[in-house]
Amino acid sequence: MRRAIMAGNWKMYKTPSETAAFFEKFRPLVSGATHAEIVICPPFVDLPAAAEACQGTRIQIGAQNLHWAAEGAFTGEVSAGMLRATGCQWVIVAHSERREYFGETEETALKKVRAALEAGLTPIYCIGERLHEREGEKTHEVLGRQMRGCIGQLTPEQFRGVVIAYEPCWAIGTGRVATPEIAADAHAFIRRQIREQFGTDGADNCRILYGGSVKPDNVRGLMAQDEIDGALVGGASLDPASFAAIVNFWP
Ligand code: PGA
Repeated sequence: MRRAIMAGNWKMYKTPSETAAFFEKFRPLVSGATHAEIVICPPFVDLPAAAEACQGTRIQIGAQNLHWAAEGAFTGEVSAGMLRATGCQWVIVAHSERREYFGETEETALKKVRAALEAGLTPIYCIGERLHEREGEKTHEVLGRQMRGCIGQLTPEQFRGVVIAYEPCWAIGTGRVATPEIAADAHAFIRRQIREQFGTDGADNCRILYGGSVKPDNVRGLMAQDEIDGALVGGASLDPASFAAIVNFWP
């Protein structure tokens, strides 16, 4: 049995005081939720406020990015060790917005995933095809390349510490959610890639999240798919009631 993960990616939204206000409302709404791990990934500057607000709760904190070096002359960057020291347990790696606007590649993602693992963070490695790639029937080719370039370079032990998020770019922030069947098909393909390299155990134990316009009214259909082990939620994670409704999709 793979334990569900419901993760919120706040992107570049909210100040520290808005973060504290979010958790004031959010905490009681999910206090009974034991069926899933709950993770919130705010901007860097909000991490201390988030960590403080979540102390003693089951809500975990993650970052949206990291640098692969432990420290050094890398202006504007933040290391895995710094994230750990701030209370993070998770970090998103290679989100499609980072690939598109900040030039992230499988190569940089691999360095980041390894650095995260070494520091004891769980990386959520994001992959997904763009609209023209789906329309050109290139989805499997793209996902295969994104898997091979990063996940394919890990040892079995490293791989055990990784979570994957399938986020088709055409569904991110567009309101155009993948149907449960489309998402499950992509997840099944990803899991086959994993099985080839890490065997049945590796494939059966790996959690693959779906992301892209997940909302309270579509989360149940997605989570009903055996292949889908959780959600990575952008816009709908900014509001405490709406993200709580997503987390509480079950029973
Ligand atoms: P969205 O974003 O839920 O706003 O589509 C998802 C994501 O980018 O992780």
